[in-house]
Amino acid sequence: MATERTFSIIKPDATRRNLTGAVTKMLEEAGLRVVASKRIHMSREQAEGFYGVHRERPFFSDLVQFMTSGPVVVQVLEGENAVARNREVMGATNPAQADEGTIRKSFAESIEANSVHGSDSADNAKIEIDFFFKPEEIVG
Ligand code: PPS
Repeated sequence: MATERTFSIIKPDATRRNLTGAVTKMLEEAGLRVVASKRIHMSREQAEGFYGVHRERPFFSDLVQFMTSGPVVVQVLEGENAVARNREVMGATNPAQADEGTIRKSFAESIEANSVHGSDSADNAKIEIDFFFKPEEIVG
């Protein structure tokens, strides 16, 4: 498997509890390398655009509200099989269903405040990376 890239967000519930380092440590221990990272406060327009695919879901406005409620850290992660590896270390969306040793099992508060986002496919990873990063901001 060739090296690939994926996109990650450390969500407001995690930055609020000062868990940026703890989450990043778990990503790195899973074999992922942070090749771009920035702390931002997402605007409503950014959150609505980023989660546009969920626009019709009942939780959409709550999700946008939550993701704009505090700072987040957006990251590009690189490694072998990075998309799948990141999903593995993140754990299930609902922390009640997440496996032991995963980020969400360790830190998530709820299905909404679930500490991290990770791309679900290589195609979406590229779209999501391009949404937040210029090519020159990624240093492999
Ligand atoms: S699905 O069904 O697979 O499309 O849903 P999923 O990808 O697991 O979830 C999409 C994102 O929406 C968030 N989410 C919620 N937010 C608020 N309330 C509820 N009930 C809820 N359910 C899901 C979830 O945290 C996902 O965020 P990301 O950032 O994509 O991980």
